[in-house]
Amino acid sequence: MIVFSPGVIKLFGEHAVVYGKPAIAAAIDRGVRVKCSRSDRAVVRAGRAQVYVEYDVERREAKAIGEEGEKFLSYVLTALRIAEAELGPLKAVFELEGDFPPSVGAATSAATSVGVIRAYAACLGVGLEKEELAKLGHRVELEVQGAASPMDTAVSAIGGLLKITPSPFSYEKINPPMKELALVLLPRRGLTKDIVADVRALRSRHRSVDAVIDAIGEVVEEAWQCLKGGDLKCVGELMEVNNWLLGALGVVGDDVVALLRYLKPFIYGGKISGAGRGGVVVLLPKRGEIAEALAELGLPTYIVRIDELGARAL
Ligand code: MEV
Repeated sequence: MIVFSPGVIKLFGEHAVVYGKPAIAAAIDRGVRVKCSRSDRAVVRAGRAQVYVEYDVERREAKAIGEEGEKFLSYVLTALRIAEAELGPLKAVFELEGDFPPSVGAATSAATSVGVIRAYAACLGVGLEKEELAKLGHRVELEVQGAASPMDTAVSAIGGLLKITPSPFSYEKINPPMKELALVLLPRRGLTKDIVADVRALRSRHRSVDAVIDAIGEVVEEAWQCLKGGDLKCVGELMEVNNWLLGALGVVGDDVVALLRYLKPFIYGGKISGAGRGGVVVLLPKRGEIAEALAELGLPTYIVRIDELGARAL
């Protein structure tokens, strides 16, 4: 039995969502696959170029190669512990495979947390509502990271293009007006947890930073209307506005600005997606030739579609 849990691209509102503002994000057709088979031993295996983890639950032996592997392992183990506490015991072999390296800002940690819990439930033969899955996935992120909004885990669990209100949690889903998004992966400088802490520290030093966060909240509301109306020119322009506001929070590097300038003829707009300081840049492409322009970059790039279904057994 294999579960697919989608990665998540943040279109509007990251960072401000940590302070209660709404945000808009989309589940995409690349993410994490979790295979679960019942067995007399409980084992987790995960691997694919960037990360390698092997864990034997009974022998309590874990092998994670590199810092990335260790981080990844903590999400898997926390997800298994929460699944066991909520759903009951299970002995199974879990195998994980991700499309993106962890920590690039494509919500691999959220997709892993959600995917492991969904696979655990499926292997055990119990049902799990999407909203409940979102909640359990968020608990994993909170335990491992200390602080996280419910956005990434909710979008991976539920799927589609969503506007999230973080607390009390609620969401609205619409049919996406765009067919595809383009992603460019820039080298990442820092972990989400540390970047979120830096923004928090900046906010505590300057009252005016609240005005930037409020402005991001307003961009989200306006962008939601543009998305509902299918006005991609408006969506793209507001992505750029959101990106400059994120720049004011200190999370957008010169490399992003240069990239957006270079790709301008091919896109309605673009911005960082997620915590920033490198990582994923999301672009709203205008027309097909963007593939050639992306190939010229010499960076990892992806054309992705929005995944409407969220985490599910394949
Ligand atoms: C990370 O994907 C997005 C942030 O807003 C943090 C969060 O929502 O927890 C930067």
